[in-house]
Amino acid sequence: MDSNLLKAIEILNNDGIVGMPTETVYGLAGKINSKEAINKIFATKERPFFDPLIVHVASIEQAKSLTSQWNLASEALSQEFWPGPLTLILKKNDSVSDLITSGLDTVGIRMPNHPLALDLIKTIGVPLAAPSANKFGKTSPTKKSHVDSEFESEEIFCLEGGSCEVGLESTIVKIELFESNEYSIQLLRSGRISIDEILRVLEKNKIKFNLTQAISKIEAPGQMKHHYMPNKPFILVNDLANPTAIYQKISNSLLSLPDQIEGVKIIKPKTIKSHIELTLSKEPFMAFREFYSALREASNSTADIIVFVRPDYFDLPVWTPLNERINKAASLKVD
Ligand code: TXA
Ligand code: MG
Repeated sequence: MDSNLLKAIEILNNDGIVGMPTETVYGLAGKINSKEAINKIFATKERPFFDPLIVHVASIEQAKSLTSQWNLASEALSQEFWPGPLTLILKKNDSVSDLITSGLDTVGIRMPNHPLALDLIKTIGVPLAAPSANKFGKTSPTKKSHVDSEFESEEIFCLEGGSCEVGLESTIVKIELFESNEYSIQLLRSGRISIDEILRVLEKNKIKFNLTQAISKIEAPGQMKHHYMPNKPFILVNDLANPTAIYQKISNSLLSLPDQIEGVKIIKPKTIKSHIELTLSKEPFMAFREFYSALREASNSTADIIVFVRPDYFDLPVWTPLNERINKAASLKVD
């Protein structure tokens, strides 16, 4: 077996945590039956305990072992989309601690589509809890180097699994089964797998469901107003034809911006001398893949601010996952 994989296994078996590549973003993984490891995940990420973790499995059997209500809908969706970027929220059983689910009676489960992650989980024989491997509220990592720089002082060991193919976090769907045998389906986070694709699979399997709107705060992960934020002000603009005028508007708005937004610090320049423009592919799935990496690169540049000219086609449904993340990552929007 590969020596890095062996090292990761040894760390995990000693109640430690490791950086784990997946097809969406890199995760910060620990064994679900190690209280010490789970506590380390929250401490290392500086993540509040009210934000629950996703549990990663290597087989459908393993997923079933975590829930008290595996049902026709979870069977159909996992058969269709796993391994892949879909997290299912289901009723948990006692094998999943309250620490992982933040006291909720449900657990988020997914089977990642990355050979190293699957190898790791299979060899360990225990599911791995893993949030994205970034400090709370900050930009998600899509390369090992991102994880290494994020946790430089914590010296987290991270497996090298290349650039993440999907590049945005998994779609999260909550499934509830009522006594009437009807299902309620809720989209809690958009991602590469669209809600239409999900509903089509349920229909194909003749499953009766209601699509309900997500309302609650914790139930909707990225639903904090800000998330994925880089260290520099990231500003959405309609055009960049006259940078000087834009700088003026941005400077005025920056004055009223706090140094910290929802607990996340941003470094505000005293005066704006230069900007860097974030540019993304016009092909949506390619843009998903590029986004977090491009945002980090821009944040590491010498420019004072990052600007993004929001294209009109972002209103098309296929762009929803990226559009939502860009809105949350932005510190300001300037007309
Ligand atoms: O693609 C992904 O999902 C990545 C990779 C590493 O698998 N993971 C990820 O984890 O994005 P994280 O912790 O950054 O985001 C997971 C979100 C959390 O914000 C949390 O609110 C939500 O999932 N979540 C987890 N368990 C939940 C539950 N039982 N009910 C509602 N939301 C839940
Ligand atoms: Mg995250």
